[in-house]
Amino acid sequence: MIIIGCGTSWHAGLVAEYLFEDLARIPVEVEYASEFRYRNPIIRETDVIIALSQSGETADTLAAIELAREKGALVYGVVNVVGSSISRLTDAGSYIHAGPEIGVASTKAFTGQVTLLTMMALQLAHSRGTISASYYQRLLTELENIPHKVERVLACEPQIEYIAKEIQDSHNALYLGRGFNFPVALEGALKLKEISYIHAEGYPAAEMKHGPIALIDENMPVIVTATNRNAYDKIVSNIQEVKARKGKVIAIVAEGEKTISEMADYTIEIPETEDPLAPLLSVIPLQLLSYYIAVGRGCNVDQPRNLAKSVTVE
Ligand code: M6R
Repeated sequence: MIIIGCGTSWHAGLVAEYLFEDLARIPVEVEYASEFRYRNPIIRETDVIIALSQSGETADTLAAIELAREKGALVYGVVNVVGSSISRLTDAGSYIHAGPEIGVASTKAFTGQVTLLTMMALQLAHSRGTISASYYQRLLTELENIPHKVERVLACEPQIEYIAKEIQDSHNALYLGRGFNFPVALEGALKLKEISYIHAEGYPAAEMKHGPIALIDENMPVIVTATNRNAYDKIVSNIQEVKARKGKVIAIVAEGEKTISEMADYTIEIPETEDPLAPLLSVIPLQLLSYYIAVGRGCNVDQPRNLAKSVTVE
């Protein structure tokens, strides 16, 4: 499978890579549509291309789809806007039906894309027999619990607003995550850049020591999405590395977590869930954090400068 998209849709594609490979054992490549279309990619007739787009009108994604179809691959669209160009150009597809997304910064489309891709991964895993029946049932039941848990994440809003005020004058921010939470870190950084104009970078937490660690000092907020059950100890040691350099740690942790909460400067507790479903919950505090930072800095969160809702030019 090759997943293509731009911006937030590309981040949803990265989550899908983890889901399809982990659950359904299907090898996946995730490509920026803009790179894919110009780099003479290897596309086979047996490949399935999944094109992700909220608007269904992104020029680079459309051109990448045309290329994939010329090469004979099956193209499956995951689109929000009904009747959009991508929905008409693809061989098959699903709408996420998230309703009109008005703000330029994509939020509910990410949730819709990741939910749909999770359901696809689960169905594939079930029919390919790559996960046990009991794990499949557990994930399905947990997926049904997600809306209720999202409401509990939203209840953290006052605390997130408080943290936003504490860090809103920063010039830079670093977002870290591991495994399923790595694409969430990228998405959190993108949201902050887009609507607050603060420079932010997302990194896999373990990559920090290969460069970004040099940036850390007392003025650097480091937002760590640390809800993982897998690799928990590794995240704890990544946070210790940040604290040793006086970085300001804002940690997103599972409810009841103690070790990280004691080390972090600020903690946001969200309901526990299965690792493959974590992005559906962990992205929300990052979106809210960006929102309140942007509001605090007097930025227009619905219509940020220099950006358009649909990027219909190269
Ligand atoms: O409509 P699309 O999903 O194809 O749009 C792709 C990107 O332009 C879009 O996700 C952009 O990065 C958003 N402004 C992110 O919030």
